[in-house]
Amino acid sequence: MTAEATSAESGPAVLALVEVGKHFGGVSALQGVSIEVHRGEVVALVGDNGAGKSTLLRCVAGAHLPDVGSIEVDGRPVVIRHPSEARALGIEAVHQDLALADHLDVVANMFLGREISRRIGPFGVLDNRAMRAKANEIISEFGIKIPSLRARVRHLSGGQRQGVAIGRAVGWGTKLVMMDEPTAALGVRETARVQELIKSLAGKGLAVLLVSHNLDQVFEICDRVYVLRRGRLAAERKIANTTKEEVVGLITGAFAGEAATT
Ligand SMILES: Nc1ncnc2c1ncn2[C@@H]1O[C@H](COP(=O)(O)OP(=O)(O)O)[C@@H](O)[C@H]1O
Ligand SMILES: [Mg+2]
Repeated sequence: MTAEATSAESGPAVLALVEVGKHFGGVSALQGVSIEVHRGEVVALVGDNGAGKSTLLRCVAGAHLPDVGSIEVDGRPVVIRHPSEARALGIEAVHQDLALADHLDVVANMFLGREISRRIGPFGVLDNRAMRAKANEIISEFGIKIPSLRARVRHLSGGQRQGVAIGRAVGWGTKLVMMDEPTAALGVRETARVQELIKSLAGKGLAVLLVSHNLDQVFEICDRVYVLRRGRLAAERKIANTTKEEVVGLITGAFAGEAATT
């Protein structure tokens, strides 16, 4: 991969929201929100409960349609009406509940909804060998630590389960991965591992949008941060140019912030 390909600023943003608004009845969940995520970047989305973080992710993942504004992928306006349309655009979401099938093994979970089959005469049968090979490839390419591909997911630790959920999201021509609190349920060592995995995704040129309440984590692995407050964008900062104290103040409203210009 060339230096240019991994530069956060080269080419159009993988994802851009332009003045996006979303109401639920009388509640303005998002109002005039514009953000960008470039390839090779880990971008944090922070804000108090109810600030609109999950609504923003759902708009990009095809679970909600914005009322106003537009979403652009690689510089082109898109309308994402369904999670399958997000997926077809190279956008994957790792939700907080992970949505894994506990009784199935690692390979089956990575292929939920996109099983590989082959034809035997008139029949299509699951091609387990091809799926295992592809799962192996993803796991080694992205450095995901899982004891065995045949392990049932219910027997894995929290961090390993997170690894499976991330593995399911990457390696399919994915351009953007969005994660909602990926380490909220994990211990210190597992958190460190998942953080390494997230950084490595950006290192491979993916764009990552990370919702996190953990500012230590945001400052350790993110390049930029957007602060949402009551549905509006309060500020955008490069991590190198801000402090945890400033970000806390922007979240709570102790610092007014400003509409971000990017
Ligand atoms: N499906 C929904 N129906 C009605 N109101 C919703 C829905 N989803 C979110 N909201 C409201 O929108 C606001 C933003 O919520 P949310 O995006 O979940 O915030 P966050 O993820 O930052 O905590 C909240 O006031 C919430 O109650
Ligand atoms: Mg939320």
